[in-house]
Amino acid sequence: MTDKTIKRKHYLLFIVGGLSAILLLALTNKTIHYTSTNEFCESCHVHPHAEATWKLSVHNNTRSGVSVKCVDCHLPPEDQPVRFLTRKAYHGAHDFYVFMTKDSSEIDWAEKRTIEASKRFVYEDGCKSVIQICSLQH
Ligand code: HEC
Ligand code: HEC
Repeated sequence: MTDKTIKRKHYLLFIVGGLSAILLLALTNKTIHYTSTNEFCESCHVHPHAEATWKLSVHNNTRSGVSVKCVDCHLPPEDQPVRFLTRKAYHGAHDFYVFMTKDSSEIDWAEKRTIEASKRFVYEDGCKSVIQICSLQH
């Protein structure tokens, strides 16, 4: 192998590596956004409560321009990226794991509607940054 081919190989590797890095970044960015949409959550959760509060309330009122998403209440504020991403990874992995291993109809959803339980998965500071409604029963 001559010096030249080695150099060329490095050059190629550099390009391929760079491209994959860009692709990966774009993908994760997309994934992070996609998994924050209501559609994604609703693909598993059919929530009369969420519909009642979310769709009928002021939170989806386009006139005020404020629209509250599932993750506004169920994840920390996005402007705290480290906390946001770690909690997201935790809840995501948890939801997915239980979804795969348990029959969802056997889960005690009512138990989760208690104030005590909601402390585990409702992030009041996220809510407050939108509107103070977290303590509202829904
Ligand atoms: C792959 C299916 C699936 C998706 C997608 C999903 N969840 Fe879940 N989720 C579950 C299951 C199963 C449970 C029950 C967990 C348990 O009983 O420990 C759960 C539990 C919850 C709970 C109760 C918290 C707890 O720890 O018990 C909340 C709140 C929740 N999900 C919100 C969301 C939000 C918000 C999204 C979108 C960002 C979402 N889920 C996406 C399957 C899913
Ligand atoms: C306004 C804030 C808020 C929004 C928006 C919201 N939630 Fe909730 N969520 C709560 C609170 C507070 C509780 C616990 C008390 C209760 O259930 O009333 C809860 C409970 C839950 C639970 C566990 C109890 C149950 O009923 O199964 C799940 C799962 C859940 N939410 C998913 C969602 C999904 C999916 C969305 C979006 C479609 C959503 N939430 C939107 C605040 C919110």
